[in-house]
This record gives sequence, structure tokens and C-alpha cells, in this order.
Amino acid sequence: MLYIGIDLGTSSTKLLLMDEAGTILNCISKSYPLEFPKPGWSQQNPGDWKDAVFEGIPELLAGHDAAAVAGIGVGGQMHGLVILDERDEVIRPAILWNDGRTQKQTDFLNGIGKQQLSALTGNIAFAGFTAPKLLWLRENEPENFEKIRKIMLPKDYVNYILTGVHCTDCSDASGMLLLDVEHRRWSQEMLDICGIADAQLPQLFESYEVVGTLLPSVAAQLGLPESVRVCAGAGDNAAAAVGTGTVGEGGCNISLGTSGTIFISSEHFCVDPNNALHAFAHADGSYHLLGCMLSAASCNKWLMDEVYRTEDYAAAQAEISEDMLGENRVFFLPYLMGERSPINDTDARGAFIGLTMATSRAELTLAVLEGVAFAIRDSFEVARSLGLDIRRSMLCGGGAKSALWQKIMANVLNVELTLPVSEEGPAMGGAMLAMVACGEYASVREACSALVQVRETIRPEPELAARYEARYAQFRKLYPALRDVFPQLL
Ligand code: XUL
Repeated sequence: MLYIGIDLGTSSTKLLLMDEAGTILNCISKSYPLEFPKPGWSQQNPGDWKDAVFEGIPELLAGHDAAAVAGIGVGGQMHGLVILDERDEVIRPAILWNDGRTQKQTDFLNGIGKQQLSALTGNIAFAGFTAPKLLWLRENEPENFEKIRKIMLPKDYVNYILTGVHCTDCSDASGMLLLDVEHRRWSQEMLDICGIADAQLPQLFESYEVVGTLLPSVAAQLGLPESVRVCAGAGDNAAAAVGTGTVGEGGCNISLGTSGTIFISSEHFCVDPNNALHAFAHADGSYHLLGCMLSAASCNKWLMDEVYRTEDYAAAQAEISEDMLGENRVFFLPYLMGERSPINDTDARGAFIGLTMATSRAELTLAVLEGVAFAIRDSFEVARSLGLDIRRSMLCGGGAKSALWQKIMANVLNVELTLPVSEEGPAMGGAMLAMVACGEYASVREACSALVQVRETIRPEPELAARYEARYAQFRKLYPALRDVFPQLL
């Protein structure tokens, strides 16, 4: 049998075709625009996701036996607010996970009492979460708020189009701030605070459960059997964790995608007492802690697309010589969309620091790769402060394709980084969840042991790690020094 895994990302949708033995038969990507209507705002048109999936699946299947497809699983960008009216039309563009317009509403929610929010949901409010977006909408677009019949997350919109079932899964729902994460049920208190009704929310499933089969018209359009089962899928980080085998106590996965995340799986529900790391449900039925920086590989994309105006990212990195690593006197703060973990500052902005007339392009490129690694290290330090002794991690996401970035990450974090056969963590995880839903494996963990293969392990080099330790100490001083300036730039 064949399985389709879909990663509904922020810059593109990745589609992957896998057989039951875990062999990846094809992988394609469909990109779409991201709108920034104001600085710090971020939106996308759900119709673009639908088009990516409807154009992508036939392309993915070209030359393969479409009749053998048994299941589809989608992992998607988390937190985005998708709202439909009584005719099932999308009411407005989706407000995304990296949108910072909701600081006022976030402050309002945290003002109710961080302890109370944490007791209800396992988390405090962050601007990117879904509940503050609902409050923003109620305040700023009341006519749209009134029209809402269905609320869903990005990948749930795709599942809804495929099956007609209004559903979500516990991992993705965790990031809405409407879920009682520990007990995996909606929090009536949070629904009341946000002025929404249970009937507007999707039905909750575990990621590996079947939500439905393809609608006949969809099956015909995609050239797939109507019997294809669609599982609930997962938030992209939980899906990536499945795709990299990050399950069980203390497993760690780092993703270098548009966002940069550190994901620590846990058998039991646990909360960071300072709520700097999110306490979310995992796609295997357990839990995890998550740190999320808003601009990771997207910083490099910005430098290449907007500043250098080149498509040849590898050539720009080839200008960096080995002896420059750990010696760069130029620093980059990667806060191009503000920042979530761990500084939680929607006003923060990006910055190059330490430029001179002698600064080369290679130093700028390196500073961006290093700045992202240092900012991920910030979340790593939070995990360490909780007593989590992380010695090794999986690494996935588009940024993980760069051997240079892999090396910088391993040495800045001073941990062993293991690369799976495919960097496409969420798409791979989506296909694996579909396999469990279709009965190929009895559990997500069984699927992970059977299917995840390791390509390579990158080990830190003591001397280089020591040089990066010194640079990280300098990096840590920069944001506190600039923090008060950023709000004046708005
Ligand atoms: C996680 C987060 C991002 C998005 C985008 O909390 O906001 O990782 O899921 O991929």
C-alpha cells in the first residue's frame, strides 16, 4: 500500500509518497505567498493551501499506482486561525502563527492570571496562539467574528476539504489556548473567555485516528480511491517528531524551518514552571515541551531573497571558510517577526551588530546562520534550567540540508545532532500517522522504530564548541542592550 504525507508549511506545502516499508517514492513541493499587511502581521490565503494539495497530489502520484494509496496524513503550521461562515466559505485570510498583532489581547489573557491560564490549558498566552487572535477579531473585525460558524487550524482546513469532517487533533489543538492539554479536552472556561461555543470548534481526535475517507468528488478530482483514509494528522512540530522518531521520555528534535523549534518528548504531562516552553500534547498520545523561535530558515531566506537577490543559497554559504567558524565578529539578531521563545517580545526586531568597512558578505551570511543557532540555544538553556540533560537531538527542516548549518548548530548547542534519511520531518510523520490509522502499525512508537532511519550524526568538536561558547556569551548581551530601543522603532 502507499501513503501520502503532507507538510502544510508557511513557505510551501511538501508532499511525500511512501510505501508500507518506509521507502520514499517521491517528494514534491508547492510554494505560495505569505502576506505581511503591516510590520509584524502575517497572513495566508487558505485557498492557496487547497490549490497546493489539489495540484500537488496528482503530480506526486505521476508514474505511481494511485489505486494503491490507502491513507493520507497532514502535519501543518500550528496556531493559524481559519474561520468559515454558514456557507463554508473562508471569511478572511488566515492569521498565522508568526503574526504579532495580538499583543493587547495576549496581555489581557495573561492579565486574567498566568497561573489560572496555565492551570486551565497548561500554557500562558503568546501572541501567536489562536485564542488571542479570536479576541483580536472580536474587537477589530466584529462583523467577521459574528459570521464564524467553524473555527479550525490550517491543516484542519485541508482535512475538511478532503473529507468534509470538521476535526482537529490534540497536538495542534494544544496551541490554540482553548484546550485543557493535560486532559485532552476543550476548556469551557477558555471558550467562555473568548466568546465562542463548543459547536464552532472542531471535533477532537488523536493524530493517528481516522477522521474519514475522501469525499467522492474529491477522490474523483485527485484520481484516488474513495476508500482512502485520512487521519487527524498533527501540528507540524509533533508530526516532525514522529518523522524523526522523537518519541519516549526525553527525546529531542530540532527543526530549522521557517520557524526554529526545539521539541522534547515526554511520557507524562509536564509544565515549565515559568511557561517559557509550551506544554503540548504529542502525536503519539503522550506530551511534549516546545520552544519556538519565529524566524529561523526564514532569516537566511530573507538575506538571500531580499538582500543578495540570489537563488543560489549554497554558493553564498560556500564563501564561508572553515577558519571563520567561531571567529565571526559580526552578530545577527534573528527577530525579523518579533520573537516568541524564550524572550516573548513582539516588538523585537532583527539587527546586524559589529559591522565595519572590512565586513564581508561571507561574515554577514555566517552571522545569520549563527544568530539563528544562538537563538535556538536560548531555548535550549531554558530546557537545561528545567534539569533536562539533552546530549543529542534529531535535526530536520529545510535548513538542516546545509552541512555548514548542521555543523554550526552542533557546536553552538554542543550536542550530537542526528540527521534522519529525509529532512522532510512533518511530511514523513504525516505519512507514518496515516500508516498507523490504516493498521500497518499498532502504534506510533512501533511505526517510529520500524521506519525512521538515520543518515548521519554530526558531533561537536571541543575546540570549536569552546569558541562558540564565548561567542554565545556575547550574543546573550545584545538583546537586553537593545530591548528598550525596539518599541521606539514601531
Ligand atoms: C510552533 C509554531 C511554529 C509553527 C510553524 O509553536 O508556532 O513552529 O507551527 O511551523
